Amino acid sequence: MKRSAIGIKDVAEQSGVSLGTVSNVLNRPDTVSEPTRRRVLAVIERLGYVRSETARQLRAGRSRLLALLVLDLANPFFVELARGAQQAAREAGLAVMVCTSAGDPAQEAEYLGMFAEQRVRGVLVTPTDGTGQDLRALRSRGMSFVVADREWDGDEACSVSVDDVAGGRLAVRHLLASGHRRIAYVSGSPHLAQSRDRQQGALSALDEARVARERLTVVEAEQFDVASGRAAGARLLAAADRPSAVFCANDLLALGVLQTLFAAGIRVPDDMALVGYDDIEFAAGAAVPLTSVRQPSFRIGRTAAELLIEETDGRPEAHEHQKIVFQPELVVRTSSLGVRGGG
Ligand code: RIB
Repeated sequence: MKRSAIGIKDVAEQSGVSLGTVSNVLNRPDTVSEPTRRRVLAVIERLGYVRSETARQLRAGRSRLLALLVLDLANPFFVELARGAQQAAREAGLAVMVCTSAGDPAQEAEYLGMFAEQRVRGVLVTPTDGTGQDLRALRSRGMSFVVADREWDGDEACSVSVDDVAGGRLAVRHLLASGHRRIAYVSGSPHLAQSRDRQQGALSALDEARVARERLTVVEAEQFDVASGRAAGARLLAAADRPSAVFCANDLLALGVLQTLFAAGIRVPDDMALVGYDDIEFAAGAAVPLTSVRQPSFRIGRTAAELLIEETDGRPEAHEHQKIVFQPELVVRTSSLGVRGGG
């Protein structure tokens, strides 16, 4: 008999007991006499029967697996977020399965459908698709989700994020206070709210300083990664009116810009000040320690997982959806220190 075809019915027949007795041996062994338990376990061993955890979960109505769908695991921000989610899950006796959407709404939709089919306990997600239609479809299939890293504007889910408008404002306030009046913003993927909100914050800093918005040049990067940062750095160097300061939508972009400036002999911060976002571990350790807007990435992941676990613990009436928004913090380092801006 093919091993994978062996079911609980075969074990019961070979052991000469009922299906219920086999189930008790597996789930409530203390309710079965020692001789019967030994006989059934021997048959399980001989037949190579493997209990289907998915089938058990389906019967119990609750999986012990949370799914986490993030944009890009090459970004240390999401690794920290995943670590935080895993810590909360472990404390609740659960596990976290991590997947990436690579910023592709189609890939995101594919994984969300898979999570629903596999009936995971719930989904933590950093959405790529600005419409949220795939997440609402997930909810309509009875699957709970929590949005991490972006505020969710619907009333069907919790979200845990950082005030990215405040973060962008902190970054550019700092550059303006250093005397810079020609500032570039290297954005991430324009369809992501994170990128748009940080730009909005940057502009609000100009407004409050009564500096014309035209003083902020936007360089659109394809992705939130180092390669896109290098490409943006090249465009900054080629600009007729080169900025004296650059605010990047995340640290990976800033590290890419730094590489390009370094290769071109441009000194940071003397010739061009640089500010990133996230404060990933490599920011402080960069060739020129990077000023960055810190996000509590571990805490975002942990909090999002705690909310999802609470929502799916079998007492939905005890849970109310929350929108938790943390405040960012500016960490000033060498890359933007003490240079009077180039005007
Ligand atoms: O995923 C792109 C960026 O959005 C990350 O670097 C982090 O800033 C997140 O908020």
